[in-house]
Amino acid sequence: MSTQSARTRAPKVAVVPGDGIGQEVIAQGVRLIAALAPDIEVEWFDLGAERYLRDGTTLPDDVFARWQAEFDAVYLGALGDPRVPSNVHAKDILLGSRFRLDLYINQRPIRLLDARRCPLKGKGPQDVDIMVFRENTEDLYTGVGGTFKEGTADEVAQELCIATRKGVERIIRAAFAWARANGKTRVCMSDKSNAMRFTGGLWQRTFKLVAAEYPEITASHLYVDVLAMELVRAPERFEVIVTSNLFGDIITDLGAILQGGIGLACSGNIHPGRLSLFEPVHGSAPDIAGKGIANPMAAFLTAGQLLSHLGRPELEARIGEAVRGALLADEVTPELGGTLSTAQVGDAVLARL
Ligand SMILES: NC(=O)c1ccc[n+]([C@@H]2O[C@H](COP(=O)([O-])OP(=O)(O)OC[C@H]3O[C@@H](n4cnc5c(N)ncnc54)[C@H](O)[C@@H]3O)[C@@H](O)[C@H]2O)c1
Repeated sequence: MSTQSARTRAPKVAVVPGDGIGQEVIAQGVRLIAALAPDIEVEWFDLGAERYLRDGTTLPDDVFARWQAEFDAVYLGALGDPRVPSNVHAKDILLGSRFRLDLYINQRPIRLLDARRCPLKGKGPQDVDIMVFRENTEDLYTGVGGTFKEGTADEVAQELCIATRKGVERIIRAAFAWARANGKTRVCMSDKSNAMRFTGGLWQRTFKLVAAEYPEITASHLYVDVLAMELVRAPERFEVIVTSNLFGDIITDLGAILQGGIGLACSGNIHPGRLSLFEPVHGSAPDIAGKGIANPMAAFLTAGQLLSHLGRPELEARIGEAVRGALLADEVTPELGGTLSTAQVGDAVLARL
């Protein structure tokens, strides 16, 4: 498996545009990567609904083995197509990668770049700048469960919530380590331990243990329902949030709106030092797919996270500034009130770089 430190060759990125607007925004994102880091080798992979409908392929073992052996990052658009109601290809490719590559950190910045895009009255970029660490391999997302007497009036359905000491500790540790490395002084853990005693208890105990190793950082706790309220009331309270898979999923969608919309939210699925996967938070948006009006900014910010993972944090900062400039100049797609196409926003951001 490739690591950042052991690399002697140019970094390699596997590109999976996927479905719907994933194809449109990733095309722009790859333009951006090529312009900023021309030495990075990019290989496209035809995986997604079209391929699945054509020959039944989701994520073949040989492709997965090549990713692990040869690549440093995967850059993924979105997966989801009304013609595949089972969503089996998305489960295999996206959830499969998260679990098989043990991508235990889902890192999602909530960062407001342009005050006018925030729905909260009187809040600006200085108030909304939060890094969320969402646990990415456990909780209610492992698919452990089942049904009994399905389809009858007596049906029983069960979904198991899994938390392990190893899983909880490593995501909490990642949040504190990131806070320390980035000069942050506040980490908030969120759970529902008042109602979920067993998994919540493990989160509580582990959080206290890890926090003791970071005495310079103020460690706090909020139940997730209170966190939801506080994110809307006073987002400036938060610098780093660490939480479980389900709560992180929901909280970061709330965060996407605080930063200006789902078209601006990026995410990394990370195992430090190993092949990791980067994707915009949004889905394949069948309602606007093929119209050339999808906002590529989330894909750009995602490319920034990817480049940072490849050891080039200065490029992430430059991309952030270029996107901010385009937002402030109203060089945006229709969902943000603009008139530009996906490619024209790509031109505008590239011109600023
Ligand atoms: N990570 C992923 O691959 C991922 C994430 C979420 C949803 N999905 C899948 O995507 C499909 C559609 O899901 P959905 O409609 O719930 O969520 P979605 O994010 O695709 O779309 C929600 C709304 O936001 C708009 N939107 C999303 N991204 C946008 C962008 N970049 N620019 C402008 N507008 C944008 C859409 O037009 C739509 O109105 C489903 O099949 C779902 O399973 C995939």
